[in-house]
Amino acid sequence: MTAGVLVVTGTDTGIGKTVVAAGLAAALDASYWKPIQAGTEEGTDSLSVAELTGLPAHRILPEAYRLGLPASPHLAAEAEGLAIEPQRLALPEPRPLVVEGAGGVMVPVRRDPPLFMADLFAVWRAPVLLVARSGLGTINHSLTSLLALRQKGVRVAGLLMVGDAHPDNEGIVPALGGLPYFGRLPLLDSLGEASLREAIARHIDIAAIREAMA
Ligand SMILES: Nc1ncnc2c1ncn2[C@@H]1O[C@H](COP(=O)(O)OP(=O)(O)O)[C@@H](O)[C@H]1O
Ligand SMILES: [Mg+2]
Repeated sequence: MTAGVLVVTGTDTGIGKTVVAAGLAAALDASYWKPIQAGTEEGTDSLSVAELTGLPAHRILPEAYRLGLPASPHLAAEAEGLAIEPQRLALPEPRPLVVEGAGGVMVPVRRDPPLFMADLFAVWRAPVLLVARSGLGTINHSLTSLLALRQKGVRVAGLLMVGDAHPDNEGIVPALGGLPYFGRLPLLDSLGEASLREAIARHIDIAAIREAMA
C-alpha cells in the first residue's frame, strides 16, 4: 500500500471533491495533484485549490493532462487527438499528497481498451476517500461506488459527506458499506480559505484520515 497518499473520489461530478481535497490538503499540510483536468476554460481544480488553501505554488503539482473540453476524460482526450496513457499517471513524489480524481469511479479515462478512474486508483495502491452528498440519493450512489471500487481491488479508506445534516444517511451508508465515516462538511455560505479551514477542523476527523494514509 502506498503510504502518505489520499485519493479523493466522489459519487458524481460537482459533489464537492475539490473543496474537500483543498480542505484536507491544508489540514494535512499536503501537496495537491489533479492528474487529469478536463475543461480548462472556466478555471481548473488546481486554481480553486490554490485559492481555497493559500498553499505555495510548488505544493500544487502540475496536471499530467490538461484537456480543454469539459467532458469525460476519454472524450476530452480524443477531442485533442490523444489517448490517456497510464504510464504518464504515476503518482508524483511529494508526501503527504492529496490526489483528486476526475468525476466518479467508473469514469472512463480511455475508451479502448477501456480504463476507468478506479483502475488508476488500483494501480496507485493508495487509500481512497469517497465523497458523497448527505441528502437524498446518496445511499444508492455511495453503495454502488463502493461496490465498483472494491471489485477493482481498491482499498476504500472511508466516507465523507457534503451537505446538510441527515443523520440516517450518515449512519446507514457507512453501516451498510462497512467503512469508516470521517464526517460531514456542511455547505458554507461564504467559501474561503479561513471558513474552509475552520469547518474542516470542526467537522472532519483529520486524525482518522491521517491514520488511514499511514
Ligand atoms: N462545503 C461547501 N460549501 C459551499 N460550497 C461548496 C461546498 N462544497 C462544494 N461547493 C461548491 O459546489 C461546487 C462543486 O464543488 P466541487 O468541489 O468543485 O465539486 P467536484 O470537485 O466534485 O466537481 C463548487 O461551486 C463548489 O464551490
Ligand atoms: Mg473537482
